[in-house]
Amino acid sequence: MASIFKRCPEPLVLLFLVTLAIQLSCSVATATYSNHSSVGGMLPVHCLPDQTSALLHLKRSFTVTNESACTLDSWRAGTDCCHWEGVQCRDANGRVTSLDLGDYGLQSPALDHAVFWLTSLRHLNLAWNDFNHSQLPASGFERLAELRHLNLSTSSFDGQIPDGIRSLTNLVSLDLSSTFNVEDDHPDSSTGYGYAGYGIWVDHPASFLVEPNIASLVANLTNLRELNLDSANLSGNGVEWCTAFANSTTPQLKVLSLRYCNLYGPVCGSLSSIPSL
Ligand SMILES: *[C@@H]1O[C@H](CO)[C@@H](O)[C@H](O)[C@H]1NC(C)=O
Ligand SMILES: *[C@@H]1O[C@H](CO)[C@@H](O)[C@H](O)[C@H]1NC(C)=O
Ligand SMILES: *[C@@H]1O[C@H](CO)[C@@H](O)[C@H](O)[C@H]1NC(C)=O
Ligand SMILES: *[C@@H]1O[C@H](CO)[C@@H](O)[C@H](O)[C@H]1NC(C)=O
Ligand SMILES: *[C@@H]1O[C@H](CO)[C@@H](O)[C@H](O)[C@H]1NC(C)=O
Ligand SMILES: *[C@@H]1O[C@H](CO)[C@@H](O)[C@H](O)[C@H]1NC(C)=O
Ligand SMILES: *[C@@H]1O[C@H](CO)[C@@H](O)[C@H](O)[C@H]1NC(C)=O
Repeated sequence: MASIFKRCPEPLVLLFLVTLAIQLSCSVATATYSNHSSVGGMLPVHCLPDQTSALLHLKRSFTVTNESACTLDSWRAGTDCCHWEGVQCRDANGRVTSLDLGDYGLQSPALDHAVFWLTSLRHLNLAWNDFNHSQLPASGFERLAELRHLNLSTSSFDGQIPDGIRSLTNLVSLDLSSTFNVEDDHPDSSTGYGYAGYGIWVDHPASFLVEPNIASLVANLTNLRELNLDSANLSGNGVEWCTAFANSTTPQLKVLSLRYCNLYGPVCGSLSSIPSL
């Protein structure tokens, strides 16, 4: 897996970006010196202590190995977390609005609850990290009520999709898929799980994410435009899976991906009642 991880920003590029950011923010600050409160998001944002603390907790939950693509070196106490790699604070009050650790190749025994202290998050991407087949925390996601984009793709989470995700009514995209190299005839023999291709399960003890009630997952996600559940086990839905979508109030759904989901039964005509699909 390591070879497909994206490269981390080079220190030189970072230095350049930081320098640029400092120059930009200095000129903005000078120009608007006379009235700080009027410039809103333009002023340099300083991370609030609770946000810094949440991120440092999170960092400690990752086991950085020499195979990690990125080691979160910029995440250091005493520095402004709004400038850390993968972190953005898009509003003026120093709260983290985006955490993008997609493709970082980090390892962790489980998702740390500290992520739920980042209650202003609009964008959370933990895709392509390794959470060691742990369960997603049963509670906590409901606190991330501002979330627009949640991406937990191919992060080795197993078990039930937590109820909290059902309440994230602002979600525009939800990616809980897992990707495997289905052309590989020999799925990861060290863990003994994976697809041998063509939807055939290879024996594995803990399975992947399981969602036996699609109807309740999407019931309140009225803003959803993209839903990817590839490789989640949806077999518990029976032939009802299709009407569950058709009945749901996801009128803006444009992209629906359900590969290798253990679904059976016909594709119902009423799917076409979702006009944007
Ligand atoms: C700063 O701007 C705000 C909003 O535009 C305004 O209400 C306030 O009176 C201004 N303060 C000063 C000191 O000019
Ligand atoms: C990572 O460390 C292990 C042992 O510490 C070593 O055998 C391996 O070659 C290292 N891998 C890389 C990519 O440096
Ligand atoms: C989730 O992240 C992965 C890896 O970065 C990316 O390939 C995928 O497109 C993302 N999903 C969405 C819905 O943006
Ligand atoms: C991953 O989980 C297994 C089984 O629960 C455990 O034995 C192992 O120590 C965990 N590995 C890490 C890196 O947390
Ligand atoms: C959807 O929202 C309604 C109203 O807030 C609530 O009563 C219901 O339990 C929610 N449904 C699910 C599946 O979470
Ligand atoms: C998929 O989920 C169903 C329950 O919803 C369970 O009975 C079945 O064993 C699961 N399949 C796999 C391969 O884990
Ligand atoms: C979809 O709606 C129809 C008509 O209201 C109902 O009969 C059916 O049980 C619903 N299906 C699901 C899966 O909720």
